Amino acid sequence: MSNSPVLQPYTLGDLHLKNRVVMAPLTRSRSSTQGVPPDFAQDYYGQRANAGLIISEATNISPQAVGYAYTPGIWTDAQVESWQKITATVRANDGRIFLQLWHTGRISHPDVQPNGRLPVSASAIKPTGTAFTEGGMKEHVTPRALETDEIPGIVEDYRRAAENAKRAGFDGVEIHSANNYLLEQFVRDSTNKRTDQYGGSIENRLRFPLAVVKAVTEAWGGGHRVGIRLSPATTQPGETPLDSTTHETFGTYVDALNAYGLLYIHTIEGVTQQTRDVPDGVDFLDLRRRFKGAYIGNNQNTLELAEKELAEGRADLFSFGRPYIANPDLVPRLASGAPLAEAPKPYWYGGGANGYSDWPGMNGPVTVKR
Ligand SMILES: Cc1cc2nc3c(=O)[nH]c(=O)nc-3n(C[C@H](O)[C@H](O)[C@H](O)COP(=O)(O)O)c2cc1C
Repeated sequence: MSNSPVLQPYTLGDLHLKNRVVMAPLTRSRSSTQGVPPDFAQDYYGQRANAGLIISEATNISPQAVGYAYTPGIWTDAQVESWQKITATVRANDGRIFLQLWHTGRISHPDVQPNGRLPVSASAIKPTGTAFTEGGMKEHVTPRALETDEIPGIVEDYRRAAENAKRAGFDGVEIHSANNYLLEQFVRDSTNKRTDQYGGSIENRLRFPLAVVKAVTEAWGGGHRVGIRLSPATTQPGETPLDSTTHETFGTYVDALNAYGLLYIHTIEGVTQQTRDVPDGVDFLDLRRRFKGAYIGNNQNTLELAEKELAEGRADLFSFGRPYIANPDLVPRLASGAPLAEAPKPYWYGGGANGYSDWPGMNGPVTVKR
């Protein structure tokens, strides 16, 4: 076994983790049309319990939150019951798992919205690109700007989802405030042109995301089991620049988050999946220093890079996304220096157990305890 410091145990708040490797959230679109994760997701997550911490795939907080076909939810009893089996399997395999709470906002389509309604956002600004629907990829539409008096209701949706996550047996929750989904649509000044108390100044643009953080931490009795995901430098969904003062905006956000005692920030360094270059002048080390909790670094991590970042004090934990798709036993592979398998893109989204929970480990099938 490797004696890499990245693979040694780490204490995150009151959680004892086996190592500093985090499985990054990965949408895989295997749930039913009712947003219920399949039974074979128990194998998928159980096989990956070698990570110190698993962050679940992004999970819709309400029907309005849905932006992609076959993604899971956490608002019905059937959804909670299926997640319960998954969290129990991860626990039986000595793993830890947080649920990622998601509202896609404008990155959606009427075909995946209740009664074919328009997706909602901070402002009526159409994103570039296409949405994944049951009928294939469809061009995004111009969303409807939320009315001021609708926003507290969405905060309550987050609260209920956070409570349901607790009921489902998760160890904690991660608020998805990255990749230009609803919360980030409020944070960035290119997607938020509102003139009410939720738009304009940075303080106003942060009002809704911080209300969500407050509700979710209240649901969990404090911030000690709540993290948040941020992607200050990402250019998703393909527009750039997304904010006129990116570092100032996200620095103010991180400073404000300190009031809620959050466990960690989980930061995508660079453009999600594409590059670790930071086109927007964001100083991630400054964000890490300003934040009082732990720091999870993400984007194109390798064991070598994580060791370097740890030695330089740039992050506490390191999340791996794509490598976990085809390498269920990622930590043992990193420890032994074994080559990593690569998952062809057709397996990423949609389908059944094939290309999802049937990837072998380096020494044959990865067994899951029940
Ligand atoms: C198939 C796929 C699904 C993803 N789904 C999510 C998601 O549900 N939530 C999220 O925050 N990021 C999601 N991401 C982004 C990853 O968590 C991660 O930030 C990105 O892949 C970069 O890390 P990597 O280089 O280790 O893959 C997804 C990425 C991929 C490839």
